[in-house]
Amino acid sequence: GEVTPRLTVIGTGYLGATHAICMAVQGYEVLGVDVDQSKIDRLTAGEVPFFEPGLPELLTKALTSGRLRFTTSFAEAAEFGDVHFICVGTPQMAGSHAANVSYVFDATRELARHLNRRALVVGKSTVPVGTAADLAELIATTAPAGSEIELAWNPEFLREGFAVEDTMNPDRLVFGVASAWAEEQLRASFAPMIEQGSPVVVTDRMTAELVKVAANSFLATKISYINAMAEVCETIGADVQDLATALAYDSRIGGKFLKPGLGFGGGCLPKDIRAFAHRAGELGVGQAVAFLHEVDAINQRRRTRAVDLVRELVGGDLTGKRVAALGAAFKPNSDDIRDAPALDVASTLHRAGAQVCVFDPAALDNARRAHPELEYGESLLETLRGADAVILLTEWSEFQEIAPEVMGSVVAHRRIVDGRHALDPMAWRAAGWEYRALGRP
Ligand code: UDX
Repeated sequence: GEVTPRLTVIGTGYLGATHAICMAVQGYEVLGVDVDQSKIDRLTAGEVPFFEPGLPELLTKALTSGRLRFTTSFAEAAEFGDVHFICVGTPQMAGSHAANVSYVFDATRELARHLNRRALVVGKSTVPVGTAADLAELIATTAPAGSEIELAWNPEFLREGFAVEDTMNPDRLVFGVASAWAEEQLRASFAPMIEQGSPVVVTDRMTAELVKVAANSFLATKISYINAMAEVCETIGADVQDLATALAYDSRIGGKFLKPGLGFGGGCLPKDIRAFAHRAGELGVGQAVAFLHEVDAINQRRRTRAVDLVRELVGGDLTGKRVAALGAAFKPNSDDIRDAPALDVASTLHRAGAQVCVFDPAALDNARRAHPELEYGESLLETLRGADAVILLTEWSEFQEIAPEVMGSVVAHRRIVDGRHALDPMAWRAAGWEYRALGRP
């Protein structure tokens, strides 16, 4: 007997657009809100402003159903919604490790000003623990007198490339609430997911904020753990790939996020561990998460090591050497280049004097804008032509599928660094390639 709430989603970036579209497809009436008119225009015209498999089709479906609309008006959003999801970004602050929460405060203030009926505001953005308490205070002092507005926290765990799947069928839902009413509203807002079997953890708002950064810190730590083992392997000539395989068979450890290689990048893991360490320091518990600095440092050292491997392969000096860099995105099936290990390595090679040519199936436009100093190939084969060395930086399937013979026929020298352990060393060596990988003899 629950009434279906009408939803607004404030911030139509990666998280917000995905959430808005998926919720409309699930049957909710949804209004997407953004201060950026051009984003609103593109979404209204049925265009997803970023790369995410499956999402454009769902946007068309949601728009056709009439259940999804977009606006720049917070007044309209306040009038329309029973439950308002705040999905704006919290980027790393320039010159600091802290998260910039100003967009979250701006969006909440702008919405609260207009809220003159009972509503639930739900924070989804990744924030430093304690932010929700400040936002609740802001709402209490900004919302018109007499309006009953509550704040809840509902962190989001979606992965790029799997955003639709993760939103429609989440591993878990975390509801950080201050009242039974807020919990009811959230349960009504996620009824299809709950019905489908997604477990719900109901807790206080602070714990809910913490779940997100704790989860991402754990994942980053797991990756850096195996990459630390790769460093040890490199020193003694052991094989981190076999090591990881053997560890993964221990069901308590598991093989997920235990893939050694160039390490993590993207808009979340690097910034979240830094922001968490920074926040913990402010709270006086910096020591408890001091290991996150090490996790970050291990991750950065992988990039340096990859550059060193290329330098060794070409005989010790990168000057004037042609290097084909395969991949720019921070991971495959994404056009996201934020803190991408791939572009970091490519531009370091360039600064070291190499003539670097980059190819990526989806992220070329973004890469060109961010790194105009690099060369870009129009196709994989064109990028490889005449290369003195190849480095695989993002494990796109088309890089894994190309036969060593085919690649060998266009390069100048058969030398490859496999930065993602994506290729079979036996096959490549058999085809006459000098094959090197991080953490492998
Ligand atoms: C991550 C979290 O997975 C997600 O739950 C959270 O909501 C946002 O941050 P995402 O940034 O989309 O998602 O990327 P993810 O798939 O987690 O990969 C992160 C990085 O780690 C990539 O650069 C990837 O290449 C790297 N990685 C991942 C490894 O190096 N080894 C692994 O074993 C797994």
